[in-house]
Amino acid sequence: MSTQTTAAPKSTRSKITVRTLQQRKDAGQPITMITAYDYTSAVLADGADIDVLLVGDSLGMVVLGYESTVQVTMDEMIHHCKAVARGSRTSLLVGDLPFLSYQITPEEALRNAGRLLSEGHMEAVKLEGGIAMAATIERIVTAGIPVVGHIGLTPQSVNLLGYRAQGRTAKAARRLLDDALAVERAGCSAIVLEAVPDRLAAHISQQLTIPTIGIGAGNGCDGQVLVYHDMLGLFDRMQPRFVKQYATLAAPIQDALRSYAREVRDRSFPGAEHTYAIPDDEWNAFLTGLDGEE
Ligand code: KIV
Repeated sequence: MSTQTTAAPKSTRSKITVRTLQQRKDAGQPITMITAYDYTSAVLADGADIDVLLVGDSLGMVVLGYESTVQVTMDEMIHHCKAVARGSRTSLLVGDLPFLSYQITPEEALRNAGRLLSEGHMEAVKLEGGIAMAATIERIVTAGIPVVGHIGLTPQSVNLLGYRAQGRTAKAARRLLDDALAVERAGCSAIVLEAVPDRLAAHISQQLTIPTIGIGAGNGCDGQVLVYHDMLGLFDRMQPRFVKQYATLAAPIQDALRSYAREVRDRSFPGAEHTYAIPDDEWNAFLTGLDGEE
């Protein structure tokens, strides 16, 4: 590892807040969101002027190797939120409330949302669900914590719904619109629409005053979000059709790891340029001392 530390590059833009997101929607300017799970990904994404860093509970799958997001705990979320906050300067920081941290009572939801802010240094929280979550959203927002909703494909409900696009019948589309209107009324600052037909997502985006952030929801949303490891080609256990790979980094990383292992085995690494020297006179004095002749 390099002995030099890299400070997060200074951004010239001003701090992004939930109010900035609303201004973006009102001005018709698309919002950019990406997941981040650690200091380095936060430095890179914030340095690329991405508007929102989402510490998604997808970290359970792409970082921790769990089968689904259902196993992610509050303590794990806080650990990763803190790392992301250390790497970010101007992006808005949103942390996911994990499974069962908000579904039991609104009071417990508020306590856990508060922990993501006070311990994890997030600036907003995201939770999954529509009409059923309205009272909980209201409780959290009333305490001064911005909430981002999430409807459509909700990965914490994988055991009930699977990883399937939602809202593909007239009845299901109506339910999704009702969910979106309910979370807006409850006080959400924005809402993620995941795996929803593009025409429905565009319609919901027009009906709502708050911004919609799409993932697998077409071009008519007010912004887009992707999972960091998916868009960089680092995670291939699941590849939903809505993922665009902007890079395929797994292969070059593995090539580099193979080269390193080969060079260690054939002793061509480390070379002289990676090695510290001791002056000859010091070395000779050391050897003499070893002989007990000093
Ligand atoms: O956890 C996550 O990464 C998410 C995004 C897919 C929106 O919720």
